Amino acid sequence: MPRIPTLEDLGDVSGKRVLVRTDFNVPMEGPDEARNITDDFRIRAALPTINWLTERGATVVCASHLGRPKGAPVVKYSMEPVRRRLAELAPGVELLENLRFNAGEEKNDPDFAAQLVRGIDAYVNDAFGAAHRAHASIVGPPKTLPSAAGRLLQREVEVLGGLRENPERPFVAVLGGAKVSDKLGVIEALLQVVDALVIGGGMCFTFLAAKGYPVGDSICELDHVSTCRKLLEGSKPIHLPEDINGLDASGSYATFGVRLPEGAKGLDIGPGSAAAFSDVIMEARTVFWNGPMGMFEDERFASGTRTVAHAMADTKAFTVVGGGDSAAALAQFGLDDEVDHVSTGGGASLELLELGDLPGLAALRGAPNAR
Ligand code: 3PG
Repeated sequence: MPRIPTLEDLGDVSGKRVLVRTDFNVPMEGPDEARNITDDFRIRAALPTINWLTERGATVVCASHLGRPKGAPVVKYSMEPVRRRLAELAPGVELLENLRFNAGEEKNDPDFAAQLVRGIDAYVNDAFGAAHRAHASIVGPPKTLPSAAGRLLQREVEVLGGLRENPERPFVAVLGGAKVSDKLGVIEALLQVVDALVIGGGMCFTFLAAKGYPVGDSICELDHVSTCRKLLEGSKPIHLPEDINGLDASGSYATFGVRLPEGAKGLDIGPGSAAAFSDVIMEARTVFWNGPMGMFEDERFASGTRTVAHAMADTKAFTVVGGGDSAAALAQFGLDDEVDHVSTGGGASLELLELGDLPGLAALRGAPNAR
């Protein structure tokens, strides 16, 4: 199988126009016509690739999606705020309008792909967060152009691929987030490679229900209780919370044991669970964390996620944090520089861990310059 070409495999880029597919799907706030970027991490993350190309005399044209505008222009999802920030960080770099303003992007329309590569000499994919989408800008250009993974994509593949292949042991995965149904595939894949799994967040209640504990009014996916029971019966240890913070039936803050009373709602792991999860993280040599332990946006239910984030920062293990909410939590606690790798991809990092490949990576391996 050819390897994924890297920037060096593009040859001399001086005087060439290079299309760089970036993931500038950044969080924004404010009125539709005057949106402000609240976190430019994804723009800064593309700079090593952009600078590598411009320093070698290439003209860089970036292209990204923003939000889910459904194939037509929407003011709210204009690239203008991103363009302004990019001009500050990388003057002279062009940025096309939101790719998803054209229905051809998500439909993987060859005509739209042809339009994107017109006048372009080479293609770089640095959009790890979108590499799990078989969209025109991801899989189209490598069919015809010399192509490469950008530095960000290359690092993501090395780190996340390395977790599947040769992690230092013990290797522990800490998973959270609201819904277990979103993560069953990755849980099954991770159970093949980890030494232990730690489960918190809303999804822990389906596992607790599978153990026969009452979960009150907590989020619980009854359809998946039997699957969770089978996973618990497997050979790998799955650590579940032993106490829960939440609201009692009258709406007052409370800490419960593992059996939730009627009408109670679990919204965070409790202090005993947070301490136990930290111990597992501290003793590991490799840790992958995806998904908050509770509703951390509400300070009352942030302590479980905060404790796990601090353990990730403090452990001597090699630490990898999946994108999305867990990366946002880490940033909220000011710990994003304290872990070894924060992935820029939420769905993409989980899909790569689950399946071992992504449409965007397969496309690069098929490029004319791939060896
Ligand atoms: C993300 O934010 O995870 C990526 O930009 C992908 O966005 P999408 O889920 O809308 O394809």
